[in-house]
Amino acid sequence: MKLWAGRFKKETDSLMDDFNASIRFDSRMYRQDILGSAAHVRMLGECGIISSADAQLIRKTLFEILDDIEKGKIEFDVAAEDIHMNIENILIDRIGQVGKKLHTGRSRNDQVALDFRMYLRDEIKAIKNLLIDLGSILLKLSEKNIDTIMPGYTHLQRAQPITLAHHLIAYFQMFRRDMERLDDCYKRVNIMPLGSGALASTTHPINRMMVAEELGFDRITENSLDGVSDRDFAIELASCLSIIMVHLSRFSEEIILWSTLEFGFIELDDAYSTGSSIMPQKKNPDAAELVRGKSGRVFGSLMSLLTVMKGLPLAYNKDMQEDKEALFDAVDTVKGCLMVFTRMLDTMKINKCCMLRAAKGGFTNATDLADYLVKKGVPFRDCHEIVGKMVAYCIEKKIALEDLTLEEMQSFSGHISKDVYDEISLDACVNGRKVPGGPAAESVLASIESGKAFLDEQKQ
Ligand code: ARG
Repeated sequence: MKLWAGRFKKETDSLMDDFNASIRFDSRMYRQDILGSAAHVRMLGECGIISSADAQLIRKTLFEILDDIEKGKIEFDVAAEDIHMNIENILIDRIGQVGKKLHTGRSRNDQVALDFRMYLRDEIKAIKNLLIDLGSILLKLSEKNIDTIMPGYTHLQRAQPITLAHHLIAYFQMFRRDMERLDDCYKRVNIMPLGSGALASTTHPINRMMVAEELGFDRITENSLDGVSDRDFAIELASCLSIIMVHLSRFSEEIILWSTLEFGFIELDDAYSTGSSIMPQKKNPDAAELVRGKSGRVFGSLMSLLTVMKGLPLAYNKDMQEDKEALFDAVDTVKGCLMVFTRMLDTMKINKCCMLRAAKGGFTNATDLADYLVKKGVPFRDCHEIVGKMVAYCIEKKIALEDLTLEEMQSFSGHISKDVYDEISLDACVNGRKVPGGPAAESVLASIESGKAFLDEQKQ
């Protein structure tokens, strides 16, 4: 018998039961549902809405049910629809009439909002910890590669020399912002909706703050219609997760490129690569490709949530049951990606010599030669023109700028003297860029220090 069957004359069709039920995917919120109910029933007892003996019996039984679920002793029932009614049914089975008092002053509408928020709070923390792990690995790799020169690219064409550390710290900044965004999102998740009732709160003299305090919420929702129908927090988390996936996907793309024979910058560990069923020589960067591919799923979840919510009148509508699968999938996907990605980075081999060779080709020091002439008093636009001609000459001779003899150089500009060779060495190009945020070792070290301080704060 369904908990809401009073006004019905017929049973629901089993097809409808299946269609309507969310237990298949919301059972994962069993712990939050029980903790929420336990806090609710304690409050009912303390406010004199039910007797304290009843409240204590319900609370004690709820914790026994929690224990039994964790021991795998309980099977949920599709006919009971969702996690909320499954647990309430089990409670009533165990303690009869008293169990029927739990749902006093509460609706599944505020209950599901509560459980969802509590569940997401835990997931946000878990994802943040995975980002902290990734951040630490990036800082560790950066420290080891502070002098590893590689080409920096624009338009995927070699542009100016940088270091691998500088490149990695760029990603560190992205993941740092992701952590900050999650912190901000957490503030809006951590608001307690119980007491909103079905939509118009309750006439019982409940104490919402008491529930909020027991469950560790910062504050309570301030409008009962909004309390049951707000899913901004879910959309916001899906946006944060989507941005994390954008970052992981861009990074994956580079890992994939870098592990080609054409680049040869890195070699992924066997433990994070796969082979081909036909081509014996193949070693494929599947982990990075999957991360890149899975970004699509997470963006899809964000789109689903936006679309589900956009036409809904206030307050609760059953459409909102669709919020969970989308966001749970996004959360699971991001966690899986972060775990594999971090291990993949930590175990990859870096081919410093291939990176250096690439930086030496492609005239990555051309800007520095132009800047050298600026320092000799030539206006920048003229310098650009002169060096452009020198590059064209070198392309024809198949040599690098630094391979030109002093006489050859001077045939392009009389302002060039023999100090030019030191000024356009790759080391000078990189380490001359000491601007905060630049690739010089001292600038990158400062970013690493600031990154470490940030991570230490996060760990507290
Ligand atoms: N399973 C439902 C959900 O996920 C719980 C709330 C149902 N409320 C209702 N009035 N039918 O949204």
